[in-house]
Amino acid sequence: MNTSNARITAIGSYVPKKRLTNNDLEALVDTNDEWIVQRTGIKERRIAADNEYTSDISIKAVENLIERYQKTVDDVDMIIVCTMTPDFKTPSVAALVQAKLGIKNTGAIDLNAACAGFAYGLHVANGLVSAGLHRKVLVIGAETFSKIIDYSDRTTCILFGDGGGAVLVEYDEQQPSFIASHMGTDGILGKNLYCTDLSDSMFGEELPVNGFIAQNGREVYKWAVNTVPKGMEALMGKTELKLDEVDWFVPHSANLRIIESICSRSGLPLERAIYSLEHFGNTSAATIPLSLDKGVREGKIQRDDKLLLYGFGGGLTHAGLLINWSL
Ligand code: UT7
Repeated sequence: MNTSNARITAIGSYVPKKRLTNNDLEALVDTNDEWIVQRTGIKERRIAADNEYTSDISIKAVENLIERYQKTVDDVDMIIVCTMTPDFKTPSVAALVQAKLGIKNTGAIDLNAACAGFAYGLHVANGLVSAGLHRKVLVIGAETFSKIIDYSDRTTCILFGDGGGAVLVEYDEQQPSFIASHMGTDGILGKNLYCTDLSDSMFGEELPVNGFIAQNGREVYKWAVNTVPKGMEALMGKTELKLDEVDWFVPHSANLRIIESICSRSGLPLERAIYSLEHFGNTSAATIPLSLDKGVREGKIQRDDKLLLYGFGGGLTHAGLLINWSL
């Protein structure tokens, strides 16, 4: 078990107003509500306005955090935005957030670990704060996947949505939040989930490239349901805690069938899983903070609850964290 001196002290979230329902998608591609709900559990997703970007969503999530917890972010000394849909290649979303919020003395970086991004972002923040390098880190998971979706591709457009969440990680050696972490990567499988407009072949293969997200869903599905339960076991093995002492499982919300399979393979009751996919779809790095905030707002997640967060996706990469909820 690692020593943590870092505590999660606030959370906020935001989703765009526009809803895209399964019925709306029936008008765009050859699909139907029954297929989507049965295969994924998704009913609708939120879509950013044409002039609404990942930085706008990030800022609104932070504003929500400030309003609810009366926390100032003026003294934040590192901003980490976990995203794979930045406004620009440069400047980073984190730098745009710094500018808009007027934070004076802070570092700013984007972190791209696709759908596992937020779990990685929290891990990095815990490391920076616990090592005494930073005192107050803003970790944001935000995406505008609608900007990289081909709305004529039924294999992807039914899955993804837009949204964001933010947490503050502060120095606190008395009540640290972070209990243990586990992560791994299978880069060789990266060709199963990619987004590029480079015409060169990827991974030595001629894959279709058009700047939109492309996924071999079946392969990613198999990888996720095999990898995550083993990762959870390895994570729990680093602690004295048993899986039945975990109050809430907060996995990446890609697909309810994946969550059901992970729960059944791990022996965790599905009722202990909190997910955000039903109304927001797969929001990549934003799913875990959106689920966390949903759990908090619904009164499910309580102070001192043990949470198991597990992100997985593009890379392919995965990251799990065991957390003592501290709000
Ligand atoms: O967040 C990053 C990580 N990503 C994931 O974890 C996603 C992992 N994968 C999945 O969630 C699932 O594989 C999907 C939801 C993407 C697809 O579900 P599936 O049960 O694996 O379906 P499939 O790809 O095996 O396709 C089954 C059938 C195919 O038709 P045939 O070949 O059996 O005739 C597809 O062409 O369903 C067809 N299909 C659709 N039918 C209606 C594919 N997309 C659709 C659609 N509507 N939207």
